[in-house]
Amino acid sequence: MQLLDGKKVSEDIKNEIAAEVQRMKDNGEKVPHLAAIIVGNDGASLTYVGSKVKACERVGFESTLIKMPSTTSETELLKKIKELNTNDDIDGFIVQLPLPEQIDTQEVLMAICPSKDVDGFHPENFGKMALDMSTFIPATPFGILELLERYNVDTAGKHTVVIGRSHIVGRPMSILMGRKGFPGNSTVTLTHSHTKNITQITSQADIIITALGVPNYLKAEMVKDDVVVIDVGITRLADETNPKGYVITGDVDFENVSKKASFITPVPGGVGPMTIAMLLKNTLLARENRMCK
Ligand code: GUN
Repeated sequence: MQLLDGKKVSEDIKNEIAAEVQRMKDNGEKVPHLAAIIVGNDGASLTYVGSKVKACERVGFESTLIKMPSTTSETELLKKIKELNTNDDIDGFIVQLPLPEQIDTQEVLMAICPSKDVDGFHPENFGKMALDMSTFIPATPFGILELLERYNVDTAGKHTVVIGRSHIVGRPMSILMGRKGFPGNSTVTLTHSHTKNITQITSQADIIITALGVPNYLKAEMVKDDVVVIDVGITRLADETNPKGYVITGDVDFENVSKKASFITPVPGGVGPMTIAMLLKNTLLARENRMCK
């Protein structure tokens, strides 16, 4: 079994980005600037956004964190988005999801200028991705592709089973794994809450990508020998023995599934750090695209 070490690969990517930022600085160019909006006080979301801002500092990007109260109206959030769209100093920005229920997420994502949409969630960018056009690929799927590529995991002709059809991970992942090229050329099955006999499907999979948020969902009995397992689940489980009061748990029963797997991502230290590294990569791309204009 080979661990797909997202922590290490993400460090490599951040080093590559930092070197590029240094080159920009040496040439007297403006460095990339990422902004992040967070609405409300969800602990996990605050942690994720905090990690994104910290990663910006690490590679030499500028960053701006905008915290808005949980009572923020859709109109107020749209106004802030308009400000960022027209602020020439900001190269890319994200609105951390989920949003409070008084706000229509789709309206918000559509308000983000596609050229600054470094999450790749705007319908224009999502459509371009599906059509194999150059665009921002959502950071988590982009990170998974990068891991598969850097570990040279064979995907052509393989049966890839994606568990979960979220717009952030499952749906884009199912599209990307079926695209022409490497990583891709897979035969893809997208499973979800209405899927029947899921074990019958997962036990035929060469590659399984779980993005469910149900701790230890994927058991050893559900997979075949030599399967490649990508665990996108990040759930906080209460644990009083841990100083933080919780432990991070993935969707995969790692202890038992890893015994059968050829490649597997750990949680933490797998997909999570890759997501952040690829957000930085998209922000660098946004900066470079704006320089071309
Ligand atoms: N919430 C969970 N994952 C993500 C992500 O990749 N981007 C944003 N904006 N929100 C998220």
